[in-house]
Amino acid sequence: MAKSGYPFTLGVASGEPLPDGVVLWTRLAPDPLDAKRPGGMPDRTVTVRWQLAEDRAFARVVQTGTAAAQPEWAHSLHVRVAGLRPGTEYFYRFSVDDHVSPVGRTKTAPAPDSTDPVHFCFASCQRYEHGYFTALRHLADERPDVVLHLGDYIYEYGKPKQPRPGRYVRPLESAAECTTLAAYRRRYARYHMDPDLQAAHAAAPWLALPDDHEVRDNWAGGLPGNGSSPSAFLKRRAAAFQAYYEHLPLRVRPTGPDLRNYRWRPYGRVIDFMLADTRQYRSGRDMLGREQEEWLISRLKGATARWKVLAQAVFFAQRRFPNGTLSADAWDGFPDSRARVLANAPDGLVVLGGDVHNNWACDLRADWSDPASAPLGVEFVGTSVTSMPPDTDAKAILAANPHIEFFDGHRGYVSCRASMDDFRADYRVVGHVDRPGASVSTAAVFTVEKNRLRRADL
Ligand SMILES: [Fe+2]
Repeated sequence: MAKSGYPFTLGVASGEPLPDGVVLWTRLAPDPLDAKRPGGMPDRTVTVRWQLAEDRAFARVVQTGTAAAQPEWAHSLHVRVAGLRPGTEYFYRFSVDDHVSPVGRTKTAPAPDSTDPVHFCFASCQRYEHGYFTALRHLADERPDVVLHLGDYIYEYGKPKQPRPGRYVRPLESAAECTTLAAYRRRYARYHMDPDLQAAHAAAPWLALPDDHEVRDNWAGGLPGNGSSPSAFLKRRAAAFQAYYEHLPLRVRPTGPDLRNYRWRPYGRVIDFMLADTRQYRSGRDMLGREQEEWLISRLKGATARWKVLAQAVFFAQRRFPNGTLSADAWDGFPDSRARVLANAPDGLVVLGGDVHNNWACDLRADWSDPASAPLGVEFVGTSVTSMPPDTDAKAILAANPHIEFFDGHRGYVSCRASMDDFRADYRVVGHVDRPGASVSTAAVFTVEKNRLRRADL
């Protein structure tokens, strides 16, 4: 590598926390947007040193090692650290030649018998050209135990010929839509150069799930969603998943067009996180695919933690629009799959979703049309970090859907605190994203009582 180029321009990250380990991430990119050589790196493997310590000053280093940054994976690193203590904060950094990366903070998952409260945040839908990631800066300031990212980490779109006012606030690296590995890599590099996104990664370990825009708008299963050739689409999906992996702290690598995203991440006796993939296995009227659905239902039945948190990308509850229609791209397009999940809803079910670029909160019911139908849990739908919302007649939607309790139209993220007694969700919002520096406030707080939402005082 050229001695002069600082290679840690894309920041550092950690993820996939277990009670005894985490994955540490970075990617070497002295020239992140170089159009010829990914990241401006030479076409050879580079050895990177890493350190993990108990303190931010690295006075108490507990593990060190080296890892190979390979050109085949855009010189990204996914270091699996093991042998750590549960529920413990650590700090990490990388170095190569004389260059040292920024310091990241991470935290292992609690021990299986832990009853310590869990603080997590979730976010989704960060369209770079739509604005500043100020919400992620505020999320970072919370230093949560873990961050869940529920999809649309990037948007694949190019620059519209005539962008609507206020919808092309920051320039992309290219005016073209991403379809190739090289283009997706440069798009992720553009995003990762953002200081607020870097701060959110450096503040806490992440559990990330892709939705559609990591590949292309509204894709489903093996189909691109626009009627074009499925075989060409699978090539594109392979490129998109490879770039996704190269830029997030994941444990599992994609194999061609396949990336195993569904997984279980226990947080002591307080939370069982179940992450479900609502894109890759869609087929006909089936949202999850048989194998994933069997996995999810056995997890829901077997979960013993106080809260069973189902994290996934799209609106789960029924949401009837004022004209009577339902969204075909969300669970409303897959009502039989949803009914099978709800038929196995355990006590303490909390569903998390995103995708719709507004905040919502819902009670889950077996019969959406019957307000007396037994409460089966709750759903918190988080707004976008920046992506502009669709025109929404929220008043009419709330009136047409009595199980939907709350709407808010700001950008932001959701902050949750769970204990053996309580679950609390704070909708954290910013006033603007078209320029930096917005402050954060709380639009609403909900707790969960007897599998039902309860609005709390601010
Ligand atoms: Fe989105």
